[in-house]
Amino acid sequence: MRTIILGSGKGTNAKALLDASIQNQLGATEIVAVYSDVAGSGILEVAQSHEVEFRHINANPTTAKLSGKDEQVWIEALSADNPDLIVLAGFMKILQKPILDCFPNSIINIHPSLLPSFKGLGSIENAYRLGVKITGCTIHWVNTEIDGGKIIAQAPVRIMEGDDLEMVAARIHAAEHMLLPWVVSDLSLGNIPFPE
Ligand code: GAR
Repeated sequence: MRTIILGSGKGTNAKALLDASIQNQLGATEIVAVYSDVAGSGILEVAQSHEVEFRHINANPTTAKLSGKDEQVWIEALSADNPDLIVLAGFMKILQKPILDCFPNSIINIHPSLLPSFKGLGSIENAYRLGVKITGCTIHWVNTEIDGGKIIAQAPVRIMEGDDLEMVAARIHAAEHMLLPWVVSDLSLGNIPFPE
């Protein structure tokens, strides 16, 4: 299963996938490339240190959506890699219909909350400030609704008395790093079906 990872930030989830791949724990997954819209981002360094192809492709930093000419450049680059699966691992641009239509039923996203609660940005902080007692992370198929596609898997994380925001965030990230390789592996082995 030819797999591409897209991200904008530190790349700890990409690292979890690449480490799992090295340890032969990603089933039939082949990670062919890592892409980022942010030059010099951690995720590109992670790819480099794991000796995986990595590319920076511009995306207008002033807009939340990937659109216009930028979107076409991304479509061409990703298409050239002929992916079976695209993993959004901290990719902070919103994908719209043209790019989604090019890769139907093959894009997943990891999100740091138990969807459908706390969609969008600031999910960890919003859950923490509201005093919820159980939060977590979700992996879902990507469609045109932000964080609204069909849920594939979730992992719960408790927020305990005395936790600060950083402790909660660290616990959610640890849960993400376990859940994402598991889901990707199971997709590659057919244990989790791709949508029709
Ligand atoms: C992860 O917590 C991921 O769930 C979140 O960005 C972080 C990326 O961390 N994604 C979103 O918020 C998407 N809306 P990483 O770069 O260390 O993998």
